[in-house]
Amino acid sequence: MARSALLNVMVQAALKAGRSLARDFGEVQNLQVSLKGPSDYVSQADHKAEEIILHELSRARPTYGVLAEESGERKGTDGQHRWIVDPLDGTTNFLHGIPMFAVSIGLERQGEVVAGVIYNPAMDELYTAERGNGAFVNDRRMRVAGRRSLSDCVIGTGVPHLGRGHHGRYLVELSHVMGEVSGIRRMGAAALDLAYVAAGRLDGFWEEGLSPWDLAAGVIMIREAGGYVSDRSGGPQMFKHNNIVAGNERIHKELIGVLDRPAPTT
Ligand code: IPD
Ligand code: CA
Ligand code: CA
Repeated sequence: MARSALLNVMVQAALKAGRSLARDFGEVQNLQVSLKGPSDYVSQADHKAEEIILHELSRARPTYGVLAEESGERKGTDGQHRWIVDPLDGTTNFLHGIPMFAVSIGLERQGEVVAGVIYNPAMDELYTAERGNGAFVNDRRMRVAGRRSLSDCVIGTGVPHLGRGHHGRYLVELSHVMGEVSGIRRMGAAALDLAYVAAGRLDGFWEEGLSPWDLAAGVIMIREAGGYVSDRSGGPQMFKHNNIVAGNERIHKELIGVLDRPAPTT
């Protein structure tokens, strides 16, 4: 599998930040027993990972713009390209010593995501995709799952929590989906959820309240693995509406249909 020079830059940045996160993750597991817990430490780990990524990316392409979760937006002189970076997706997992977290780096060209890298250092799984060149996990080609009926499907989602999301609306959606599928998973790292859809491990996924850095790399990965992604209403505006529905062509459509069912009247 030949990677472009650009994708290589993204891979090197993700691996380097991932190694830093893996070292800090070991320490987080030791800090669980302390009274204050490891939250300050985790925030430092998060910022350190972002610094590593931005340093590597801007060294290779100094004119590109950046949208990164911790440091925000920086316009590039290039005007066409933008890196979209989540240095640590799955922070709550990381904080609790759960090894489901990842680095996520997407590249936008003229407003379209054209390449993505997601790296889970705890499992040493590297997911990569480039427009027109397919999607890979550790150099093995990925394809979305081919299941054709929701009743056979395992669907991923993100559950709102304290201070986040529309709890009532989500519960209605969940009650509809849970009645149709063979399993639901909430793994706690949206970038990995999307990589899992691309890898055919999850048959579909939906979540609200996501930011471009949660979505960018995963979106190109699913498309390049032959899958479908859209916003909650079936349109292309995932970054604007901050939500996503994903799956193979059929499951993506069915999932939207189920999510759209009206709330039962009591
Ligand atoms: C979060 C994770 C989580 C999702 C949240 C995200 P963070 O990202 O992706 O799975 O449910 O909406 O904010 O904060 O860990 O980078
Ligand atoms: Ca995130
Ligand atoms: Ca994050």
